[in-house]
Amino acid sequence: MLLEGQLPWPSCRVMDCGGKRSATPLWPAATVSIHRLVPPSESAVVASLCRRSPKSPVRPLTPHPLLVAANSALAGVTLQRSTKRMSDAQKFRIGVLGSGKGSNFVAIADAIRAGQVPAEVAIVLSDVENAGILERARERNIPARFIAPGKFRTKLEDEAEAAFVAALRETKVDLVVLAGFMRIIKSGLMNAFPNRIINIHPSLLPSFPGLEAWKQALDHGVKFTGCTVHFVDAGVDSGPIIGQQTVPVLDDDTPETLHQRIHTAEHELYPKCVAAIARGEVEVRGRRVVGKLR
Ligand code: GRF
Repeated sequence: MLLEGQLPWPSCRVMDCGGKRSATPLWPAATVSIHRLVPPSESAVVASLCRRSPKSPVRPLTPHPLLVAANSALAGVTLQRSTKRMSDAQKFRIGVLGSGKGSNFVAIADAIRAGQVPAEVAIVLSDVENAGILERARERNIPARFIAPGKFRTKLEDEAEAAFVAALRETKVDLVVLAGFMRIIKSGLMNAFPNRIINIHPSLLPSFPGLEAWKQALDHGVKFTGCTVHFVDAGVDSGPIIGQQTVPVLDDDTPETLHQRIHTAEHELYPKCVAAIARGEVEVRGRRVVGKLR
């Protein structure tokens, strides 16, 4: 766990979830609806949190006063509503970050192709040049880029992080989806996409945060474990939970067999969560995320 200094957020702890490390701030106690987003350069952050996708059911939304105040102080931007992305028919755009084989990315991409997720993968980025996730993306004609992480082992160098942010901004992503990304995400990315980063963790949080969650579950002797999709916040695998799926622990399970079944559950759960967000059907009320996964 690391502390990111000099952030506009009170503090920012960094987690390592099932081999992935990331962190982002979350507005405290704010009630927001998650839907389309334009980069802060295009409109106020608050405005972006108040809009709904053109494809989403129309429901008037008002930003929580805390959110308005916090955004105003923090972002130093004029709180004006942008209509640029409201009027077009552009799909909800996601950017996927991964370091590994990319099976969760494949599950999301396949669900999109099957019409189950009203979104498009705008870009796939990896800190590993030969990562399977890049190959899987290229096979699908999805823009895929390796960005050299720099000299550190567990975190991105500032320049590298800036390159990730630039790539995500250039492709105008609405949501950042972490799918096995093995680097700590620092303030640059967090500030660029507040409340717009989600992650999947291989346990039923809040049980077994951190590394090798499936092994933790097995060692602890629980009868059920599973996976959790959550917004990334300042804690360790502690952000508001969007969805969970259970997996029974069998008497003859090994870490490998259990991990494999959790992976299968992840491939069902992650696309559903992305779909709910893309449809604007997810609302964050403090710790609780309200909305139906289907
Ligand atoms: C998943 O098991 C997920 O829980 C963890 O990283 C793994 C990524 O696997 N955060 P893949 O690259 O999507 O196959």
